[in-house]
Amino acid sequence: MLEPKRPEPKRLFIETYGCQMNVYDSERMRDVLSPLGYAMTERPDEADLVILNTCHIREKATEKVYSEIGRLRVHKERRVAEGKAMTIAIAGCVAQAEGEEIIKRAPAVDLVVGPQAYHKLPELIARAARKTGERLAADFTAQEKFDALPARAPDGVTAFLSIQEGCDKFCTFCVVPYTRGAEFSRPLADVLREAHALAERGVREITLLGQNVNAYHGEGGAGFADLLRRLAAIEGVDRLRYTTSHPIEMDDDLIALHGEEPKLMPYLHLPVQSGSDRILKAMNRKHDGAFYRDIIGRLRKARPDIALSTDFIVGFPGETEKEFEATMQLVRDVNFASAFSFKYSPRPGTPAAAMMAQVDEEAKTERLQRLQALLFEQQRAFNADQEGRVLPILVTGDGRRPGQKHGRSPYLQAVHFDDTRAQNGEIVPVRILGSSQNSLSGVREEMALA
Ligand code: 5AD
Ligand code: SF4
Repeated sequence: MLEPKRPEPKRLFIETYGCQMNVYDSERMRDVLSPLGYAMTERPDEADLVILNTCHIREKATEKVYSEIGRLRVHKERRVAEGKAMTIAIAGCVAQAEGEEIIKRAPAVDLVVGPQAYHKLPELIARAARKTGERLAADFTAQEKFDALPARAPDGVTAFLSIQEGCDKFCTFCVVPYTRGAEFSRPLADVLREAHALAERGVREITLLGQNVNAYHGEGGAGFADLLRRLAAIEGVDRLRYTTSHPIEMDDDLIALHGEEPKLMPYLHLPVQSGSDRILKAMNRKHDGAFYRDIIGRLRKARPDIALSTDFIVGFPGETEKEFEATMQLVRDVNFASAFSFKYSPRPGTPAAAMMAQVDEEAKTERLQRLQALLFEQQRAFNADQEGRVLPILVTGDGRRPGQKHGRSPYLQAVHFDDTRAQNGEIVPVRILGSSQNSLSGVREEMALA
């Protein structure tokens, strides 16, 4: 008897820009579409559905979206000529901020969907395929979004878990409070349930996500540190991380927990943005340099080996050479294991974009180069400091050649090491023998001793 012919799988291509929240959202979009027969492809030219999950944080990120749409249009036209179709959907923060504008500027786009509406994707895509030119604004609450999406199937041993969205802090340079909306925390029980499910599927390391993750507040006054304690109690969850944090939410309980809870990894991304008090005030950061240094001091007292990471903006409106030098001094004082640094980019609708005295492009470029030279030097030194140590490495996969594995150090470094036995998800001792700016290399300890 002939087998009934299976329908061809539809192909889905997702391009993700920007932050970890988008990485997480893309995984969830993939999950919500897979029951509809969408299988992932690496090739946009052969996709039935292309989703660009966009970032609006800097102008460059936004412009990239329009040039990518231009490239996709060529593929789409070719497919249409071949009697096939391609649905192009724009998701993420550019979709949220510029929905109307995208439809006007880019006729190749079929669908614009903001971050709160991803659970409606199947319906929206069906409607777009019927050529209704549908678009959707984010008129759904964050809770509804979390509820409606299935728990994601982790690929391996590390996973993100989104616990908080949005921001009420209104830093004067930032679009997030406008694109992602007000701060919202998921109920504690939902977060715990999802963490249990991840652990059961073999996830060993969970990174909690949120725009202001340490502002998390559960029911009954449960704070972020309480949530971390509850998660650390789950069997199978061996490592916890969180990103991204605001300095004013680093309360005593959370700082103390860094010294008390061994599952909480000794790594913290804590954006500071600038070392100048006047600039921090103009940014509406709600903290000054001394406050930041004090938190770092207390964290290091609680957990002496904690590795620190941060974000900087150079060339904020009115930033003088002296004020930039205060940022350089903060870097020298703190000593970061890694950092992200950006030229200030005026975002329409934010207060800083309307400020007089915008810094010229040349000065921004020159300051960024000086800052990054110092930060990269610190990053290389931090990695070099691990040489000779034996670190517990979480095995995340096979290396480039037989007998090699890769994994992750407690300080979030990528590690390649020689080991023939280790299984994914195990935590094994690795002697670090080499380092570069971006990774470490070594040998499994027993092998090194043999
Ligand atoms: N220009 C440059 N960098 C920005 N960031 C946020 N908004 C802007 C902007 N308008 C940076 C901040 C933030 C990181 C996610 O992006 O450093 O912490
Ligand atoms: Fe943006 Fe500031 Fe909120 Fe971070 S804290 S998301 S930089 S407004």
